[in-house]
Amino acid sequence: MLSVARTISVIGTGYLGAVHAVCMAQLGHTVIAVDVDEDKIAAFAAGRTPFYEPGLDELLTETLATGRLTFTTDPAQVADAEVHFICVGTPQAPGEFRADLTYVYAAADGLGPYLREDALVVGKSTVPVATAERLRRRIAAAAGREAEQVRLIWNPEFLREGFGIEDTLTPDRFVYGVAEPGSAEAEADVALLDDVYAVPLASGIPRLVMDYPTSELVKVAANAFLATKISFINAMSEVCETAGGDVVALAKAIGHDDRIGAKFLGAGVGFGGGCLPKDIRAFMARAGELGADQALTFLREVDAINDRRRARMVDLAREACNGSFIGKQVAVLGAAFKPNSDDIRDSPALDVAEQIHAAGAQVRVHDPRALPVARAHRPGLDYRDSLEEALAGADVVLHLTEWQDYRDLDPAAVRGAVTNPVVIDGRNKLDPDRWKAAGWTYRALGRPNL
Ligand code: UDX
Repeated sequence: MLSVARTISVIGTGYLGAVHAVCMAQLGHTVIAVDVDEDKIAAFAAGRTPFYEPGLDELLTETLATGRLTFTTDPAQVADAEVHFICVGTPQAPGEFRADLTYVYAAADGLGPYLREDALVVGKSTVPVATAERLRRRIAAAAGREAEQVRLIWNPEFLREGFGIEDTLTPDRFVYGVAEPGSAEAEADVALLDDVYAVPLASGIPRLVMDYPTSELVKVAANAFLATKISFINAMSEVCETAGGDVVALAKAIGHDDRIGAKFLGAGVGFGGGCLPKDIRAFMARAGELGADQALTFLREVDAINDRRRARMVDLAREACNGSFIGKQVAVLGAAFKPNSDDIRDSPALDVAEQIHAAGAQVRVHDPRALPVARAHRPGLDYRDSLEEALAGADVVLHLTEWQDYRDLDPAAVRGAVTNPVVIDGRNKLDPDRWKAAGWTYRALGRPNL
């Protein structure tokens, strides 16, 4: 158990905030989570998570039962907290590349009047560089103080959906951005945040203290690197398609080099989700504002390669339908942007499905978890709860989100459901030999010779 249990508020109960609040309560702290969305708060308070994240339901039930975790829509309720975590979203601004900071500023304005003089504010939202300093001034204004009187650490999160609890409780590293590294004030702030993370820190997880701008940049740099790695292998995929190479064999071979590493070399329809696409765009926009746009022009290509893979998938599907989608049935396996999530934000699978639907095919989409969200937010497609129904009469089957259910499919058993046994593996995760042995034509991105 903790030597020092702290009183904490978590502002914003989206994916990041909800996982953070539950995990902080699990560590032994007293946590109040606040959001403006009454339905969401009511769901959490009743022990229901309004989105799918493995293990979160169980941990929510467990921590609610301790009495240490409460949910509210009343900002005044956070007044006792010693540490406030800002976990609100920073979506892409409509029609622009930059991040929309409305929610971050609203959190600051809402918090100011209730901030104890000794309280520490910890920013976790992904923000453009220079936001931490602005936010500190904004909180100070709302609290009626000088900026220097507001304690603020920038502490970006790196959690992956599907692994949110693990990534919160045992992250690879903690990053603390402080106003003046080395100052007595910074040391006191760091010591307080160390109390909050005492349990994971005790296990030896590195904790890196730096200035605000660097800490803000660490997050976007990490995401830009990951996106670049995926687009790099997808660029190799394009070359393999023209040169007759096999991108899966290529990725495996270069991944053995420790300097390159095998992770994030999965070629396919590319990256989506609520982070990588919008974060690289916001990073480009911010660099432009700072006069450093040339430094990040390569990210435009990273984005473009990612989009081209979706277009290539549509082309492969059209080829499989003998050149036209009109009157054809297309089965799409997957709606979530990645497996073990019901998040459909910028989902490559749904983008491909919508493009094919717009080109005249009848598209049936299946997903083990994401259909309720997909039906609510992308209502134009035909969603099927049963895999059999999605496959029935298909002229081509597209594997677009690599859920274990699809990887475990018995190709011989589902062969009879479709009209034409053609599968296009958009994630390079099915076993070509098994599918071919069961009578299927197997096609994939970046593997022309299978
Ligand atoms: C990402 C970062 O990993 C995380 O550190 C950050 O905090 C938030 O953004 P997340 O969006 O949950 O996390 O998903 P991630 O697992 O990174 O996958 C992003 C996308 O890339 C998915 O669409 C996934 O399918 C795709 N991807 C991933 C590939 O196409 N190939 C790969 O090899 C890996």
